[in-house]
Amino acid sequence: MEGASQTPFVRAVGSLGLVRRWMTPFLRVSNACCGEKKVREFLAPYLESGLPVTAQIMGTRGDVLGELAVKCLEAGAVGIDLNCGCPSKRVVSGGAGGGALKDPLRLAETVRTIRSVIGQKTPFSVKMRTGFSDPEEMTELIPRLADAGIDKFFIHFRTVREQYLPVPGRTERLRKAAAAASPLPVIVNGDISDAEDGLTLLEETGAAGLMIARGLLRDPWLLLRFENADVPSPEEGRRRFSAALEAFDAHGGNKLELVRMIWGEDSPEFRALCGERRRKS
Ligand SMILES: Cc1cc2nc3c(=O)[nH]c(=O)nc-3n(C[C@H](O)[C@H](O)[C@H](O)COP(=O)(O)O)c2cc1C
Repeated sequence: MEGASQTPFVRAVGSLGLVRRWMTPFLRVSNACCGEKKVREFLAPYLESGLPVTAQIMGTRGDVLGELAVKCLEAGAVGIDLNCGCPSKRVVSGGAGGGALKDPLRLAETVRTIRSVIGQKTPFSVKMRTGFSDPEEMTELIPRLADAGIDKFFIHFRTVREQYLPVPGRTERLRKAAAAASPLPVIVNGDISDAEDGLTLLEETGAAGLMIARGLLRDPWLLLRFENADVPSPEEGRRRFSAALEAFDAHGGNKLELVRMIWGEDSPEFRALCGERRRKS
């Protein structure tokens, strides 16, 4: 999660064993690729956990993205994911992230270029919304991207235009996505609140897996619940996770944002931190 997953967060998650693999937040490039040093620094906190790391990349130029993908693989990533889901206006207006879905032909060409430099064997996925403005767009997009070299899809059920608004039809949209990608795997995403919700969604969509972002902050042991592990309650999990964050020093820039995402805006924890910041300023 871009902005949330800074080093203390990654170390806290890793030390508590809350995930089995990583997909990084996006590393964005525009007209030129970043250097090897920046790529290594970006991947370092994930790689130090010893877990497999998929590097997520974002941009518009296939040649530059291909160069970035190769640098990520050389630095230790085991797979590449292309971000085609970010709905931020700044990103979309430049044609990157979710903006890439507006031009399926160009996006397919970008995928082909990246595939040609990373080789056939490297896992190469796309994280996408169901469309830019209409979820029906995915029925054209998914097969086109599969033809171009994508081997796995991570799909957030909303369109780019829908941002994070409440919209109906999650199961139906994701079932269509899984059917459009078949036999390639689809990992479904969006608003998965607890293990029961996740298991029902898997069953009803025929998807191959679940991707959970905000839910993991509200219940840090959520992914382990799927393994029936004996895990702490969400409340206790938040407490332990917050303590681990403190231990890895989350006093820096994004502590307020993390506390808001973990405990919620109305929580005593968030209000106390806001008060503390006001007193200090
Ligand atoms: C703060 C924040 C940062 C995010 N950063 C990324 C990112 O870098 N790459 C990505 O693919 N998705 C990113 N997402 C989107 C999530 O992966 C996910 O698609 C979305 O939050 C819906 O799933 P959820 O309801 O489980 O949170 C981000 C979401 C949030 C809230």
